[in-house]
Amino acid sequence: MRQRHSDYMHWAKTQSRARFNLATSGVGSFPLAELPVQPALEINGDSTYGYAHLQGAIAAKCGVDPDCVVAAAGTSMANHLAMAALIDPGDEVLIEHPAYELLVSAALFLGADVKRFPRAEENGYALDTAEIRRVLTPRTKLIVVTNLHNPTSVLAPDAVLRDIGELARSVGAHVLVDESTWTRFTRIRRGRRTGWVRSSS
Ligand SMILES: Cc1ncc(COP(=O)(O)O)c(C=O)c1O
Repeated sequence: MRQRHSDYMHWAKTQSRARFNLATSGVGSFPLAELPVQPALEINGDSTYGYAHLQGAIAAKCGVDPDCVVAAAGTSMANHLAMAALIDPGDEVLIEHPAYELLVSAALFLGADVKRFPRAEENGYALDTAEIRRVLTPRTKLIVVTNLHNPTSVLAPDAVLRDIGELARSVGAHVLVDESTWTRFTRIRRGRRTGWVRSSS
């Protein structure tokens, strides 16, 4: 049966009473009139496949073709769109453990056969390609990682990500890298090869 509920998101959005709530990442609404921008700022326009100015600016920043950019309302929606485009019910999806819970819930919602691979505490929560190879099969359609790793903030070296890309390519799978926190605090690395999907906010 498909999972239709994320316990973590329900708790994060409705139950936390923390004064400083680090579980949500949304920006509070703010009137445009109170921002130091031109009052005539044009924020609308033709947006059949996304707002062209925004698509172009993101593409330029990431060093990719604007056709490779899909705007979403946050990383969670981007992850959902990417998974929905790449996997069918029953497809095998490999997700790191521990992981950002919503990545697992989204894959289960789409009917994926989710397998986990560990990022071990004794290994500093590093991404370990040997652990991925252990669970990879010819049925694998997607490998999902976070970078920086949520919940530990560990950064994955480019060389390791490249090795994961090669593993995925060997079975015709894609890699989804959720860079939600990476791009918030650092400069974006430019252009990646076919088979990679990056999501960030
Ligand atoms: C790894 C990861 N992915 C996705 C999200 C959710 O991002 P958004 O609020 O942009 O949907 C978060 C939020 O903290 C996150 O840490």
